[in-house]
Amino acid sequence: MDKFFIHGGAHLRGTVSISGSKNSSLPILAATLLTRERCVIHRVPDLSDIRYMLEILRYLGADVSFSAGTVTVEARKVGWEAPYDLVRRMRASVCVLGPILARCGRSKVSLPGGCVIGDRPIDLHLRGLEALGTRITLSKGYVVAETSALTGTRLSLRGPHGSTVLGTDNVMMAACLARGTTIIEDAALEPEVADLARFLRAMGARIHGEGTGCLEIEGVEELHGAEHTVISDRIEAGTFAVAAAIVRGEILLENAPSEHMGSIIEALRQAGASVEEEKNGLRVQAGDPLRPFRLRTGTYPGFPTDMQAQFCALAVTVPGRSEIADEVFPNRFMHISELKRMGAHIDLRGNVAVIDGIPRLSGAPVMASDLRASAALVLAGLQAENTTTVSRVYHIDRGYERIDAKLRAVGANIERRP
Ligand code: UD1
Repeated sequence: MDKFFIHGGAHLRGTVSISGSKNSSLPILAATLLTRERCVIHRVPDLSDIRYMLEILRYLGADVSFSAGTVTVEARKVGWEAPYDLVRRMRASVCVLGPILARCGRSKVSLPGGCVIGDRPIDLHLRGLEALGTRITLSKGYVVAETSALTGTRLSLRGPHGSTVLGTDNVMMAACLARGTTIIEDAALEPEVADLARFLRAMGARIHGEGTGCLEIEGVEELHGAEHTVISDRIEAGTFAVAAAIVRGEILLENAPSEHMGSIIEALRQAGASVEEEKNGLRVQAGDPLRPFRLRTGTYPGFPTDMQAQFCALAVTVPGRSEIADEVFPNRFMHISELKRMGAHIDLRGNVAVIDGIPRLSGAPVMASDLRASAALVLAGLQAENTTTVSRVYHIDRGYERIDAKLRAVGANIERRP
């Protein structure tokens, strides 16, 4: 298991190139199962979550290659069972359920299992697939879905915390091959869902209304092969933006998807950082003093829960009281106890972190617990005095392509050691 050694206090300055989006790539790769023809996907980031998904596709019978950011998948035949050992590693693997069902008429996928960011049910996925005419049973830790014919209908995917991203993906993919028209109300508005819709359209699907909350999908007999380029990763871009702010430095985020980053940009400006759009990206610059801020996560276009931990790390370094609430995953605060070990003053009141900033954190050994919490610890280490060691960095490798190399290139003193 690798560790990061971060010697804090280096000034960051330079350009970071933002990779293709992980959360777009995963469902798009799952969607390649909907056709027997060849699909070519560009700008796929080289991450362990992506490698898990490719392993699942191979297990299901697809020919898969991955080189220089391009994945080619040809799924002439598709098996219908995704076993626990593959699915447990990554929750997003649940998004093969809809495509396998649409292609084979049945699908058996292990329940994705527990997750440190709180309870993550899949009831909305199942409710949506049931509405399309699927019989669902839960047996020995597996979801077994069977249908004689998927049939279009009107359904809603609204849950207690808003709509569901992967649930929308799953139902949209299944509906592409259903008989008749499906209307999905309360569909997720996230740009990654719209990216999947664009890929499905390139495959011959008839989808309208992505980004409006109401998707209309006219089923077709068959989908064909297609080529697609994945959008840039707004969460990776947001994380490097916070890196610039936390050390009061300046970074140009090349290829940052500014059109998808409205709430993140607003939060940075609220904190007093400058964010300027340039021809090839976003320039983020910060100097002292930054201002305390208040944030509340929500579904898109609200502030993303996937940026909550990183902004907690930033707030910890801003004198004054900041408040950050997570409405999407109310228990997603594993980073707080680790940040406290670095001297942070944070009081967790329900789903609200009340943070009293201090001028400088102190380096400490800390442990990564989930993907974004780990990113927050790396950010904190950049600002802290002395050395911070972050262990279990495999959590970071799930979602950030070469984060240590990208940070070193802008001046950070960070090393990866076994
Ligand atoms: C996706 C993202 C993840 C992000 C999350 C919220 C991917 C691969 N992952 O996860 O990074 O943090 O969106 O933006 O794209 N819920 C239910 N029932 C369900 C499904 C979800 O109640 O069947 C609840 C969840 O517990 C949560 C909320 O709905 O409170 C949103 O979850 P959801 O949008 O489904 O997250 P994911 O799609 O799993």
